[in-house]
Amino acid sequence: MNVLLTGGAGYIGSHTAVVLSQLGHQVILYDNLSNSSCIVLEKLAQIAGRKIPFVKGDVRDTGLLSNVLASYEINAVVHFAGLKAVGESAQKPIDYYTNNVQGTISLLQAMQLRGIKTIVFSSSATVYGEPRYLPLDENHPTNATNPYGRTKLHVEEMLRDVVTSDSQWRIACLRYFNPVGAHESGLIGESPCGAPNNLMPYIVQVAAGQRAKLEVFGGDYPTPDGTGVRDYIHVMDLAEGHAATLNLLSQTTGWHAINLGTGKGYSVLDMIQAFEKASGRQVPYEVVARRAGDVAECFAYPNKARELLNMTARRTLNEMCASAWRFQQSIQFE
Ligand code: NAD
Ligand code: UFG
Repeated sequence: MNVLLTGGAGYIGSHTAVVLSQLGHQVILYDNLSNSSCIVLEKLAQIAGRKIPFVKGDVRDTGLLSNVLASYEINAVVHFAGLKAVGESAQKPIDYYTNNVQGTISLLQAMQLRGIKTIVFSSSATVYGEPRYLPLDENHPTNATNPYGRTKLHVEEMLRDVVTSDSQWRIACLRYFNPVGAHESGLIGESPCGAPNNLMPYIVQVAAGQRAKLEVFGGDYPTPDGTGVRDYIHVMDLAEGHAATLNLLSQTTGWHAINLGTGKGYSVLDMIQAFEKASGRQVPYEVVARRAGDVAECFAYPNKARELLNMTARRTLNEMCASAWRFQQSIQFE
């Protein structure tokens, strides 16, 4: 299959490119490099053993997208491109709506023009908002609590309308929980521009001595150790979930929302401890006030992915931490 990955130079897109290309798909990356760099293209070539075609472009450029879809004879699109920082989305909502919502409209227009009707969309567990019950299954009510989450929800709903209007479309909204870790080679991984917003990249930078200590946001949650609990999933398991989803969509039409998580929750202190063990480094930390908008616990009911995609996240917490550390060391000694 010829698959276009928008945002393919980013963290999850690059790992998915590896998996798809190893399965024999022809992968084309499309990215404006606003949160990634060309360096990843060299690393991908090293891992895949061949160059992966790349087009520098913005998803809001419908004309360019439409040309790329035609010239590479694309059969399906995996749509990762977008902005993803929850805090920033409250400061810059217009940027978030244009990149995430307008960007998706532009992509759908280009796809419609070319008669391409298969799309996998990067959604997020954030669409569930404050959990009313746990674990979160796909029938849990949606209620985003920040502009980033609302862009994901708007796109999910838009995609549902598209399927209602034309039953030939094949659409999956993958609701990621917390992706962490890196490819086992250590060549690609998560390297945020500026200070990390998320826990794992922050822990990595503290362990590497780039930051003095980790601030643990809240020690008084109603959780076993008082710190926030999340469902961390290895990025390679997540990437494999995309391959399984394309397989599903090759056999079925319609709109599908599917959780990608492990079903297991780990606290911030669990993560620190696991990382220290995997890296052999200390992660100094201080418990500070809660971060606004955080929930106490969030983890998936992952059975739909198991049933529909035949997929179970199999990599351990130790592999998540060890691979993230391997990647950090590879960029540190470059
Ligand atoms: P990332 O920032 O590493 O990758 C996104 C890529 O999209 C970047 O390479 C960026 O340059 C590109 N991009 C952004 N706006 C673009 C535009 N207008 N046109 C073209 N390219 C553009 O992020 P990621 O962690 O790989 O996330 C991928 C997707 O998954 C995003 O849509 C994100 O919202 C979603 N998601 C991520 C997480 C997470 O914790 N990483 C969790 C849930 C959902
Ligand atoms: N945390 C800290 N210190 C930090 C960073 C995070 O204690 O410096 C804590 C948070 O309070 C939370 C946990 O670590 O308890 C995880 O926080 P992250 O920021 O890594 O992840 P979130 O669960 O808040 O959000 C992430 C993505 C969202 C996505 C969501 C899906 O940032 O885009 O996962 O579950 F929607």
